[in-house]
Amino acid sequence: MEAIQVICTTIHATAAPAGDRIKGQAEARFTILMVIAGLFFSFSAVAQEADGQRLFLQRCAACHNIEQGQNKMGPRLLGVVGRVAGSVEGANYSDAMRSSGITWDRQSLNTFLAAPRQMIRGTRMTVSIPDATQRIAIIEYLERQSPD
Ligand code: HEC
Repeated sequence: MEAIQVICTTIHATAAPAGDRIKGQAEARFTILMVIAGLFFSFSAVAQEADGQRLFLQRCAACHNIEQGQNKMGPRLLGVVGRVAGSVEGANYSDAMRSSGITWDRQSLNTFLAAPRQMIRGTRMTVSIPDATQRIAIIEYLERQSPD
């Protein structure tokens, strides 16, 4: 008890004026918060990256390849972001897809994956991803797979 009192008195005696002390504490708290927030965001970014790939493998890879020059039942999806819909040579597209006039970007992929047949009547792709978070993870994964 006495030891604590001595320490407290010493701190009070040597500490900076009260205003500075409070400011210092607030800054320290802010720094700690930022570190925690930083850790949280980097963890969740890594988790989301892994999620996108995992979801692609689970939900898309049966019909779509991500490698150059290969088509399965669906066209390869390497470089699909920024590509004109229905434009992969040798892929087995429906007329609906070929004549859709879409250029795939985040927004159009998001709408398509939510409900393919609502966006493009007559498309042969029927698989949908109702969960918005999962759609975004998949789209971000596709964005990272560029041909160069
Ligand atoms: C059961 C097979 C199957 C699955 C699973 C599947 N697709 Fe498809 N996908 C197709 C087919 C077939 C087409 C061509 C559709 C058409 O021409 O109407 C297609 C077309 C597409 C296109 C248009 C590509 C282009 O070149 O215009 C995109 C984008 C796409 N799929 C994304 C996905 C994603 C992302 C997943 C996973 C969430 C997925 N697909 C799952 C069969 C599938």
